[in-house]
Amino acid sequence: MTATLEAPAALCAGVPATATDGLQVPVADGWIDYANFDHAASTPALRSVASAVERVVAGYGSVHRGNGHPSRVTSQWYDQAREEVGRFVGARATDHVVFTRNTTDSWTLLAHALPADTTVVAFASEHHSTLLPWGAHRTVTLGVPATVADGIRALDRALGEVTSRHSLVVVAGASNVTGDVWPIADIVAVAHRHGARVALDAAQLAPHRRIDLAGWDVDYVALSGHKIYAPYGTGVLAGRGDWLDTAAPYLPGGGATVSVTESEVVWALGPARHEGGTPNVVGAVALAAACAALAEHRADIALYEHALGARLRRGLAAIPGVRLHTLFGSGADQVAVVAFTVDGLEAGLVSTALSVEYGIGVRDGRFCAHRLVDHLLGGDSGVAAGSGGSHGADTLHRSGMPSARLREVAAVRASLGLATRPHHVERLITAVTELAARGPALSYVRSEAGWETPSVAAATTSSSRLW
Ligand SMILES: Cc1ncc(COP(=O)(O)O)c(C=O)c1O
Repeated sequence: MTATLEAPAALCAGVPATATDGLQVPVADGWIDYANFDHAASTPALRSVASAVERVVAGYGSVHRGNGHPSRVTSQWYDQAREEVGRFVGARATDHVVFTRNTTDSWTLLAHALPADTTVVAFASEHHSTLLPWGAHRTVTLGVPATVADGIRALDRALGEVTSRHSLVVVAGASNVTGDVWPIADIVAVAHRHGARVALDAAQLAPHRRIDLAGWDVDYVALSGHKIYAPYGTGVLAGRGDWLDTAAPYLPGGGATVSVTESEVVWALGPARHEGGTPNVVGAVALAAACAALAEHRADIALYEHALGARLRRGLAAIPGVRLHTLFGSGADQVAVVAFTVDGLEAGLVSTALSVEYGIGVRDGRFCAHRLVDHLLGGDSGVAAGSGGSHGADTLHRSGMPSARLREVAAVRASLGLATRPHHVERLITAVTELAARGPALSYVRSEAGWETPSVAAATTSSSRLW
């Protein structure tokens, strides 16, 4: 086994605290502090974000509508939040920074605003939210490339064949499955050479790396607050204003208009055009507070995640029977997201056992990137029906599932972040080592809802009402 992390306390000192630090969760034999490896799905709120939210909740009034003091303050908060988020993504002075619900909503808004004669080019490895909003009729989907260079060449060829007036390349800065990072400068260079615009999906990049729309000459960026340590419900689309200002309003209604008469509606320009209805000020403030904290602590966060991520990859890679899956190979640039499978154990069983027996949260499945996971796993997750000798395979047989289910394509994803502590990484490596060697300690059955241990199911799922 490889060496554990050195000086973990010093590593932790510079990173912002989350509101869930020290959270206790039930395991089969008691309670334990939660080891969060599910940041790629949703991050916990930072403490500074929670306190900003508390302040808004204690004092907000109507936004952009009233003249009372709370209304004026609330309007100011909303405007400041837009400025903060714009700074965070490195927006140009002329860019629009539009608040949305999440990344999916941002891309759906951009798809709605595309000029009619536009071709969208994307790799099949993208998250479905990035791949699907544009419509199949105008999307050219490129196969999952073996290397970055292959990808750039394929993009170059595809853009060379585009005959429409406009084109848009959509790419995730970091893969939500494998953590692989795309070289944004190379994508922008090839796209702009062909006159195409670039939309950067920063949902997985922004929690880990600085975003620089202007510096990279990227045309649009989208991200979700709940992946950068703000609660759910707010995202952003930032970028060039021309297509957005000529598109029909995304949410026609109050706030999106300049004037309405019997004969004419004059729609607003700028972000307001697409933000009809009363905006989510609490969400915007939360997102802005998260942006401010990440920007302030970037260097410490990078060091922290690099150390923990490297330890996690090394530790998992050294376990017999564990396979790590990457887009571009083990030496490539990656953020702290690791996809793996355990020979003889179904991914869902691994993630359930990690939770129930070790208090570790990971994700299993295909992560809304089915084509990528199918590509990585080749249609076989490593669980061999009737392979025998493995506790996991025995358990599968005891559960009575047909063998076709055993070959379900799925991986386990461990994504670390600011709520992950160095000892959690050690716990995960130990847990996977034990699972790979002898399978789960408890007996599990699979229902439609997933894997369960009847003896502890009630304790691990019951929680009291918040209201
Ligand atoms: C790369 C990527 N893009 C887009 C999304 C969609 O984000 P949301 O669900 O917040 O809209 C995700 C979510 O996991 C993602 O990982």
